[in-house]
Amino acid sequence: MTAKEINGRKIASELKIKIAKEVEGLKSKYKKTPKITTIIIGNDSSSELYLRLRDKACNEVGIISNHLEFKEDITEKKVLENISNLNNDKNVHGILIQLPLPAHLSQTKLINAIDSRKDVEGLHPYNIGKTLNGDEYIVPITPLSVLTILEHEKTELKGKNVVIINHSNHVGKPLAALMLNRNATVTICHVFTKDLKKHTMTADVLISATGINKLINSDFIKNGATIIDVGIINTKDGICGDVDYKSTIIKAGKITPVPGGVGPVTVACSLINMIKTFKNCVDENE
Ligand SMILES: NC(=O)c1ccc[n+]([C@@H]2O[C@H](COP(=O)([O-])OP(=O)(O)OC[C@H]3O[C@@H](n4cnc5c(N)ncnc54)[C@H](OP(=O)(O)O)[C@@H]3O)[C@@H](O)[C@H]2O)c1
Repeated sequence: MTAKEINGRKIASELKIKIAKEVEGLKSKYKKTPKITTIIIGNDSSSELYLRLRDKACNEVGIISNHLEFKEDITEKKVLENISNLNNDKNVHGILIQLPLPAHLSQTKLINAIDSRKDVEGLHPYNIGKTLNGDEYIVPITPLSVLTILEHEKTELKGKNVVIINHSNHVGKPLAALMLNRNATVTICHVFTKDLKKHTMTADVLISATGINKLINSDFIKNGATIIDVGIINTKDGICGDVDYKSTIIKAGKITPVPGGVGPVTVACSLINMIKTFKNCVDENE
C-alpha cells in the first residue's frame, strides 16, 4: 500500500480564493481594508520565512500586513505600551506577536495584553477558553490548520484514536481540545512520555509537532493511519519534517509531506483569523 499524499499547497490555494472573495465583500461593505500588525522583537531567523510567506498571502487576498520591529533588548514595559497603542488604534484590526521571544520577555504577559478581539493567533486566554469550551471562534492557527486538513480529507474523528506529539500552549493543548470537541479519543505525548511508540501505534490519526527530524518512522505507525507532520526542520538536505516520509508512505493511509503539507495551510488559516478579528473590530453601524 502507498499512502495518499495530502497536498497542502492545493488546500491553501483553494482557501485563499475563498478568503480573497470574502475580503472583497468586507471592503465594499465597511469601506475599510483589513490591516494587521505583527510585533517582531530581535531577529530570529527561523521566523523569517513564515513572516515572508504570510505577508505575501495577505497581499494576495487584499489584507494590509505591516510590522513593528524592535531591538532584542527592548523592555517589557515598552512592548506593553506598544500593544496598548495597537489595541486603541481603530485602523489596526489584528495583532500578532512573532514567537519565539527573547528570554527576558514574558510571552504570557504580552499575549494577555492584546485585546482579545484583535488576537489573530487565538492565544489570548479568552479565545483559548472558548476553544476549550467547544465555542470555537478564533482558534490557534496551527491547530486550525491541522483541523482544516483533516476536514478537507473528510477524516472521521468521532471515536477515533488521535495521538498528538506536542504539548505546547500554541499547538498540542489547543489541538487536543479541537479533537476532543469532535469526540476523538486523544493522547498527548511529549518528552517525558515513556515508550512513545506504544502510543503512536494506537493512532488512527497521528499528529507530530516536535521539530525532531525522523522521530517517526514506519515502526511507529499502524497500517492505514493518517499522518500529519507539523514539524519544520532545516537540514543540510533542505526543509524536512518529524516523519521519515520514505518509510511511512508505504504503511500510512494518508500523509502530509514537508514541505508542501501543513505549512501552506497554516499561512492560509492565519488569514481566516484575520477576517474574524476584522469583523470583531468593525462597527456594523459605521
Ligand atoms: N507547519 C507549521 O505550520 C508549523 C507551525 C508551528 C510549528 N511548526 C513546527 O512544529 C515543531 C514544533 O513547534 P513548537 O513551536 O510547538 O515547538 P515546541 O514548543 O518546542 O514544542 C515541541 C514539542 O515536542 C515535544 N518533543 C520534543 N522532542 C520530543 C521527543 N523526542 N519525544 C516526544 N516529544 C518531544 C516537546 O515536549 P516538551 O514540551 O516536554 O519538551 C514539545 O511539546 C517545530 O518544528 C516548528 O517549526 C510548524
